Amino acid sequence: MTTSPAVQAAAATLADAAAYTEAVGTATAAAAAYYATGESTLDDDAYDRLVRGIAAYEETHPDEMSAASPTGKVAGGAVVGDVPHTVPMLSLDNVFSAEQLLSWTASVERRIGRPVEQWSVEAKLDGLAIAARYENGRLARLITRGDGSAGEDVSHAVGTIIGLPDRLAEPVTLEVRGEVLMTTEQFEHANTVRTEHGGAPFANPRNGAAGTLRAKDRQYTVEMTFFGYGVLPLPTSDADLAERMGEWPHSELMTYVAGLGVHTAETTAVAPRTLKTVDEVQARIDEIAALRPELPFGIDGIVIKADRAADQAAAGSGSRAPRWAIAYKLPAVEKVTTLLGVEWNVGRTGVIAPRAVLRPVEIDGSTVSYATLHNPADITRRGLRIGDQVMVYKAGDIIPRIEAPVAHLRTGDEQPIVFPEACPQCGSDIDTSEQRWRCVRGRNCRLVASVSYAAGRDQLDIEGLGATRVVQLVEAGLVADFADLFTLTRGQLLDLDRMGETSTDNLLAAIDGARTRPLSRVFCALGVRGTGRSMSRRISRHFATMEHIRAADAEALQQVEGIGVEKAKVVVAELAELAPLIDRLTAAGVNMTEPGATPPADADADADAADAADAEGGEAGGQAAPAADAGPLDGMTVVVTGAMTGALEKLSRNQMNELIERAGGKSSSSVSKRTSLLVAGENAGSKREKAVQLGTRIVAPDEFADLVADFLDETG
Ligand code: IVH
Repeated sequence: MTTSPAVQAAAATLADAAAYTEAVGTATAAAAAYYATGESTLDDDAYDRLVRGIAAYEETHPDEMSAASPTGKVAGGAVVGDVPHTVPMLSLDNVFSAEQLLSWTASVERRIGRPVEQWSVEAKLDGLAIAARYENGRLARLITRGDGSAGEDVSHAVGTIIGLPDRLAEPVTLEVRGEVLMTTEQFEHANTVRTEHGGAPFANPRNGAAGTLRAKDRQYTVEMTFFGYGVLPLPTSDADLAERMGEWPHSELMTYVAGLGVHTAETTAVAPRTLKTVDEVQARIDEIAALRPELPFGIDGIVIKADRAADQAAAGSGSRAPRWAIAYKLPAVEKVTTLLGVEWNVGRTGVIAPRAVLRPVEIDGSTVSYATLHNPADITRRGLRIGDQVMVYKAGDIIPRIEAPVAHLRTGDEQPIVFPEACPQCGSDIDTSEQRWRCVRGRNCRLVASVSYAAGRDQLDIEGLGATRVVQLVEAGLVADFADLFTLTRGQLLDLDRMGETSTDNLLAAIDGARTRPLSRVFCALGVRGTGRSMSRRISRHFATMEHIRAADAEALQQVEGIGVEKAKVVVAELAELAPLIDRLTAAGVNMTEPGATPPADADADADAADAADAEGGEAGGQAAPAADAGPLDGMTVVVTGAMTGALEKLSRNQMNELIERAGGKSSSSVSKRTSLLVAGENAGSKREKAVQLGTRIVAPDEFADLVADFLDETG
């Protein structure tokens, strides 16, 4: 079980002796279950929080401490084993920050009375410790860590662990220690095989390794991987070899075992490094942490060891952990949450991809509400059900994924996941001949949706271009994106079914009219991910022209209210992808400026200076100047409710919001303390009541029309 930084702050609070006794019971049962079958009833975070709560209670009530308490015991005291270790298999103490690491290295150096000659920095592999005894070069015995002084014989697993050869390159007698784990791929495979055999899936790779290592007499075998991280002589070792090994630095011992044919982390992206200074150590820690999301196996920290045998000997060991090594823990990246449902989304190429909707859960500082599910076969294979408790993995920027349902937490109320029978985007048939399901319309499926969206009332507002007409245009091969609308000819339209002269001319006029829409509408029509109508308006008012939007880097985009680091990156990437479309729209004479808006003061300079600034390592993003000229609604937050009348009668809610923002205000859909003004039309209901309660200023549509009269005629 591991401890994460989040856990440091969040220990369970135990109010009294009864709560303490219960917590000890829960934790020992969880540890016992975990070590017996790999199936814990708690995720790591929850277990650690509980144990910390127990430890905190014991600190203030030392005489109530229970003998069954998991605190201070290796593996929560859960393990039995009868093969003694020749040298104890110790655990590691933890640090959680650069500061803690610094004070730990300083304490080691104080203890040995000199600087540590060099440090070995390696990944902390997230599996189970195991000792592999080789006699005369042959793999003779596999033993788990157990309680550290004796472990369980798991020699039956020989042959299923990649990286532990039956025979070493030399006929030596020694014990290799290391971690057994399942790579992500091995884990996925193991669960496929298990569910095919009617078994319950493992919740995560570590449980998979724990369960598999202990399992005897299974009808099937699944693979695991060994990573060596230590080696020592056995009592039966050659005395000369034993003596020499006692003098080698840790790093050289590891090179030696790798040369004998044992797998180590040497061949991975997180290969051990020997480094001299704590700064270098910290830099490598940061590097390993950054590599974590991409690794094909799980790590839960970084291990820092004094490399030289003499330094290790001088530092010595405690009963639980050595004093010459430390684990720098990384935050937990998996949590258990509920699978609430599955959404089916149609991608640009017509692929129908399922997405898991989760009960929102905080993992590594971000809230996770969705996870990828690759395809329907993947759902079936993993036996997922709605209502399942699922183990979710999320590290860094990677898309969260469900590792597996936590099968033993099922209540029986879980429901099957229903697969769509028709394309959820356009209702056409689904091609299910391959693993990835696809709308039979392929790319045209999304095309119809995206062109219809672009032509919609709140975007380019092209009258007469409904979905059926778009399907017709797409199927006739006339439109492959919405820029093609602007080059349609009269002849092409007349050739279509149900297109007479009048409807053709009307449609052409409507399309022509769309050329003069404000930039905010055109930008919205692009359907940039993460931007809807109001975000499109904010971006357009801030930058004033498409050219300035396109010249903006992620940093400049963050000057727009509501755009954070992540969204800025998405917008930049999407705009790069949409560049050909935008170029064609520009060439077709579509307006690319926002009326009344002025570009940020230094934006032009920025665009020109961007390259130069890059070269100098300077900062390209600039200070934002307010984009809008001062208007009557400057600094005001305005909410509209009820039916508009008079000069505002024809305006849609979106157009009202556009008007508010042109006049310098901010539009909002709900009344709160921050609301400055409520425009209340006929049949205004609860929003009006709330505004009255809060004492918010309320105006009728006519009064509002007067207030913003100067900005009214630009609507449309
Ligand atoms: S050295 C006496 N190196 O982490 C030194 N341990 O929390 C003990 N682990 O029991 C271990 N990767 O199972 C070491 N590169 C690594 C490791 C590693 C994972 C595990 C090991 C240990 C546990 C302590």
